[in-house]
Amino acid sequence: MNSIQSYVTQHKDRFINELIELLKIPSISADSAYKTDVLNTAKAVKISLKNAGCDTVEVCETEGYPIVYGEKIIDKNLPTVLVYGHYDVQPPDPLNLWTSPPFEPVIKKTDTHPEGAIYARGACDDKGQMYMHVKALEFMTSTNQLPCNVKFMVEGEEEIGSSNLAIFVKNNQEKLKNDVILISDTGMIANDIPSITTGLRGLSYVEVEVTGPNRDLHSGLYGGAVANPINVLTKMIASLHDENNHITIPEFYDKIENLSNEERAEMAKAPFSLTDYKDALNIEAVYGETGYTTNERNSIRPTLDVNGIWGGYIGEGAKTVIASKAYAKISMRLVPNQDWEEITELFKTHFESIAPKGVTIKVNPHHGGQGYVTPINSIGYQAASKAYQETFGKTPIPQRSGGSIPIVSLFEEELKSKTILMGFGLDSDAIHSPNEHFGIFNYLKGIETIPYFYKYFTELSK
Ligand code: BES
Ligand code: MN
Ligand code: MN
Repeated sequence: MNSIQSYVTQHKDRFINELIELLKIPSISADSAYKTDVLNTAKAVKISLKNAGCDTVEVCETEGYPIVYGEKIIDKNLPTVLVYGHYDVQPPDPLNLWTSPPFEPVIKKTDTHPEGAIYARGACDDKGQMYMHVKALEFMTSTNQLPCNVKFMVEGEEEIGSSNLAIFVKNNQEKLKNDVILISDTGMIANDIPSITTGLRGLSYVEVEVTGPNRDLHSGLYGGAVANPINVLTKMIASLHDENNHITIPEFYDKIENLSNEERAEMAKAPFSLTDYKDALNIEAVYGETGYTTNERNSIRPTLDVNGIWGGYIGEGAKTVIASKAYAKISMRLVPNQDWEEITELFKTHFESIAPKGVTIKVNPHHGGQGYVTPINSIGYQAASKAYQETFGKTPIPQRSGGSIPIVSLFEEELKSKTILMGFGLDSDAIHSPNEHFGIFNYLKGIETIPYFYKYFTELSK
């Protein structure tokens, strides 16, 4: 056993228990009822960074939740790795679908995780993955093996759009100066098929409101004679895709990057079983844009999805009513070269233009962000690839993800450095869903792999 393996073996129970303590704090950034908990989580992260060997740690206030910053600078002439992660989590609801309470972490064995997985909101996204970096730092500092400088920036508003982090980054360019940004907030293909995320999709998120008559009406007295906002909204939404599941918003696809056949063939080499995919979701068939595979549909192609829709009577029994208003929350996942603000405008113009007379439309943009692709010939990617080879015994497969971390493109713009996405989660870890979990294998493997990234990145930078 090498040094990191024996360190992990020796300390693994403590590593797991420390993560469990962090997971007990319900740091739900979207819900102001949890404000104290979110702030307490920031304090806990600060203490953990100090204990792991950072020389300076601070909780940086923002207009919203604070950013925890820590650093250990060993030599100004050596490269600097900036680690980013988030300590906030998604709301856990629907609570009744959890097999154990979301903030009372327990370890359970599953077919995918025979060594056990920690079940809790935030286990994988992102407390567990962020904490791997804290423990990797602890290993490197306590055994005198930190080969370069390190900075940590852990925010509490990732799940609500990172708008205060954007300001912080713009205002602290010197402080955050680095040679590479390292993030574990994505996934890999399988525990025996390591992969490195090379792309993230952008995002435009809007809320729409359709207003018909000035009050809720008796659906017998008025039904058939006035526009029903719910009927209208659902019809408008349905028209946003054509029969091939292409999005119908004019100019929506105009700027997107179309991959060459070679690139698509390269992508298709990644191991994937459609049968397993369908079985895992208990669906009879997949559904999506004509002409593209499942992996293409959820990574290199843009999408439009309704995330929530409401209006009218949804209580028990039947109420005969035509609602005055109907609402929907709609997200569009974007691919490189689609500018999220431009897409939001295109959506708004189109959505307003397809509304029939007799209703009024409001489109309220929420947050958004640009997509990201990282090259595989960079020193950072090569260092990550070598790190996985050390610990998995296999070359990781580069793969684009369908998810979004909007701040990553801003990092590149403001800090002029590339981001490496070393994610150790699995798609089946149920992030954002009930019963989110993170494999013990994945957690420990992450801690084991990260120090090699530092080693190879420093070596390759010479
Ligand atoms: N960690 C996820 C993003 C992710 C997960 C990317 C898995 C790739 C693979 C992140 O916390 C997240 O949930 N992002 C949001 C966007 C954000 C603006 C709320 C998303 O992708 O929906
Ligand atoms: Mn995340
Ligand atoms: Mn998330």
